[in-house]
Amino acid sequence: MTSANNNTFSSNLGAILAAVGSAVGLGNVWRFPYICGKYGGGAFLLIYLLFVFLLGGTMMMAEFIMGRHTHHTPSQALPMLAPQHKGWRFVGHFGVLVTFVTLSLYWVISGWTTSYLTDAATGTLTHLGATTDAVTNYFNSFASSTWHPLVFLLVFGLIAMAVIMGGVRNGIEAVSKILMPLLVLLLLALCVYALSMPGSAKGLSYLLLPDFSKINAEAVLAALGQALFSLSVGIGMMIVYGGYIPNEDNLLKTTIWITLSDSIIAILSGIAIFPAVFSCGMEPAEGAGLVFKVLPVVFNSMGAVGQYVSIAFFLLLVMAALTSAISLLEFLCVWLTEVSGIRRPLSAIICTAASLAVAVVLSLSNGILGHITIMGRNLFDLTDLLSGTYMFPLCALGLCIFFGWEMSPDDIRDELSNHGTLRIPYYPALMFLIRYIVPLALIVVIVSGML
Ligand code: PFF
Repeated sequence: MTSANNNTFSSNLGAILAAVGSAVGLGNVWRFPYICGKYGGGAFLLIYLLFVFLLGGTMMMAEFIMGRHTHHTPSQALPMLAPQHKGWRFVGHFGVLVTFVTLSLYWVISGWTTSYLTDAATGTLTHLGATTDAVTNYFNSFASSTWHPLVFLLVFGLIAMAVIMGGVRNGIEAVSKILMPLLVLLLLALCVYALSMPGSAKGLSYLLLPDFSKINAEAVLAALGQALFSLSVGIGMMIVYGGYIPNEDNLLKTTIWITLSDSIIAILSGIAIFPAVFSCGMEPAEGAGLVFKVLPVVFNSMGAVGQYVSIAFFLLLVMAALTSAISLLEFLCVWLTEVSGIRRPLSAIICTAASLAVAVVLSLSNGILGHITIMGRNLFDLTDLLSGTYMFPLCALGLCIFFGWEMSPDDIRDELSNHGTLRIPYYPALMFLIRYIVPLALIVVIVSGML
């Protein structure tokens, strides 16, 4: 296969699976259930879905259009699309920075996940028994130790780097085509098992029956942030993937498929987790530790089958994390290749090494570097807060204002209609959303985050 062929996805299905691979990640299986649990289940789910389809889907279309039109990362795509205002390139650069920070955090949590997979397989988790204290202490001493998390984050990083070195079609697409169907199968099996547990109905109704009394401004903001993060939109990731989408693909259909798949996988993760948690008499409102501190207790109270269920679950989490991490790494790698002219393999090595170096510091900040605090937070928590609460929505705001007000409407229509071959009756609605509704919602999120 020529290297030119290796630079685009081979088909519409390949493009969809790779973009779904980017979207479906720790955000769906680790973050969504605990945030949904924290803000009251079903009511949060409804608001989240509204944001996913109305705002997230709109942003995704905008990014695909910019990417397929320019075949560049945001740093170069924005000045190309609006040559009269080159200052917009800073929004693109900012997207690269947010991607770098997100990837560094992602390495750390992916490392935890990989370590828990081996712990599940070797029986270490099972030996902790079904007591909350033992499982919580295990997690705390693991995350704050020096070498244990580092080994796993480095191994995970090297695997992702190997995929990126394989290229777009032979690396990213090939891995996504194998891992995504496998992930869905595993998730379905876990859902069936969770639903068969006694008392599971309570967990299901928690997830699906809306109770609006728990909804406040904070929950609405969390839903919007989660919608952007989960769909991988707002930082220009889908501008990079948009460049790989074949020209004859219908961008509306592609967006709908990805958005639907991402939401269904988040809901299925809730179905796999909540009934099991309730069935063991526990609460899902534990927060970020739900997967690492609550679920092992749940697995250990299932009896002999618990170990297999925990292996399946952490395998699922590792696969989801891998396809998202490779998309973040791809973004950085293409950007570096673009600005420096170096070849892809070297670029992959440099981007992996730099982001892993930051990840090492973030990981150590949970332990021996824990004394370094800024605004009362260690470096890991601070970076998490900055990237999720401020940088993501801020970058999304820049991109959507650029798209709605700066990019030529002719170029947008041309790309959406595949050069006039598709009807696009939804065009005015799309532009209304991206010009007014999405920026307004993002401004509300950013301002209230600051307050
Ligand atoms: N969407 C991924 C998740 O849900 O875990 C996270 C992510 C990947 C965000 C890639 C942004 C991105 F560019």
